[in-house]
Amino acid sequence: MSEQFGNRKVNRVYREGMHEGKSPDFPVSYEDLRDAAHDAMDDTARAYIHGGAGAEETFRKEQDFSEWRIVPRMLQGVADRDLTIEVLGQEIDYPAMVTPLGVQSLVHDDAELATAAACDELNVPFILSSLSSTSMEEVADELGDTPKWFQFYWSSDEDIARSFLNRAEDAGYDAIVVTVDAPTLGWRERLIERGYYPFLDGEGVANYFSDPEFRSQLDDPPEEDPQAAVDHFLDIFGDSSLTWDDLEFVFENTDLPVLIKGVLHPEDARLAVEHGADGVGVSTHGGRQVDGSITAIEALPDIVDEVGDEATITFDSGIRRGSDMYKALALGADACLIGRPFIYGLALGGQAGVHHVLENLIADFDLTMGLAGRDSVSEVNRNSLRHEDDL
Ligand SMILES: Cc1cc2nc3c(=O)[nH]c(=O)nc-3n(C[C@H](O)[C@H](O)[C@H](O)COP(=O)(O)O)c2cc1C
Repeated sequence: MSEQFGNRKVNRVYREGMHEGKSPDFPVSYEDLRDAAHDAMDDTARAYIHGGAGAEETFRKEQDFSEWRIVPRMLQGVADRDLTIEVLGQEIDYPAMVTPLGVQSLVHDDAELATAAACDELNVPFILSSLSSTSMEEVADELGDTPKWFQFYWSSDEDIARSFLNRAEDAGYDAIVVTVDAPTLGWRERLIERGYYPFLDGEGVANYFSDPEFRSQLDDPPEEDPQAAVDHFLDIFGDSSLTWDDLEFVFENTDLPVLIKGVLHPEDARLAVEHGADGVGVSTHGGRQVDGSITAIEALPDIVDEVGDEATITFDSGIRRGSDMYKALALGADACLIGRPFIYGLALGGQAGVHHVLENLIADFDLTMGLAGRDSVSEVNRNSLRHEDDL
């Protein structure tokens, strides 16, 4: 990390580009980064990473935060800026975390280990997907002391579900993220058209294939009969019959704080808290589940009004730049989860690419916050925004 990063003045890429006439190794603009990554990926990986559900209306709209405008204040004495936040009782250096994003081997051979190494360099928290290409124990080792949360997909097999929760706690994860918007994957036309589902090829199933309980249910280990293991994974992944009352199972099987990710209705946020959740993740899953749904930035204010004083609120779906982070935090989110930008960094440059994306996003946010006249994240609140209807 550059010595001039974060709470200091400017980051390395900014300094080199603006003061030293050097251009960076990877694109800085999100659109150029995405286009370069799309060129670097094969057709099926691009379809999996890029694709939203249905006509991709939610995916397109989720990236538009323009209904909210930042109203900057001047001469506020913002030379020293504090970017720290607190989420689920943990102090974090920056209001950015890496979102759970499955099957990272599709874009880079080093997969989650490269992402984890970049997070470790920057001390940016990493949320590991249940559907990772690398086991939760290996990723935890790579992360060392860097904050780490485990995203839990609720297997329909209780023993496997329990085993995942126990393993995450044993491996040193700090929190459990229960994703509730994807008991099964949405109508992803790009995948259906290509007849492509990465899990059929045994991608993204490392936590299952390494799980003692999963393995004990197979006649032969996955190394000997991968097809039977994939078939068993398809049988036990996800459970559409779950209800809020079933959350009790998670609390019975972990002592870690729990955040419910994928909430878009304030009543669901209330139910999550009433059932014992410590946090709520406002998200459309990157527009990949219910096409035509409300976007996460549209859903955020009502959810903050409902439970913002009682629970940690994470926000994702559409964060591309520092100003997007600023708006989500100003509307009451406690932290922003970064998705597609970091995976495009991974596709282009492995660990270095993820580092580049995260460092620049945080630096962009830091500058935006300072130029808006706020010297700490706690000062970033709704007073610094106006809605376009009120202009
Ligand atoms: C390729 C891809 C895979 C994802 N895998 C998971 C996953 O395994 N678990 C999960 O909770 N969310 C998953 N998500 C959703 C992300 O955590 C996050 O909600 C989404 O990426 C935010 O949208 P954005 O990337 O457009 O900002 C995935 C998203 C993408 C794009």
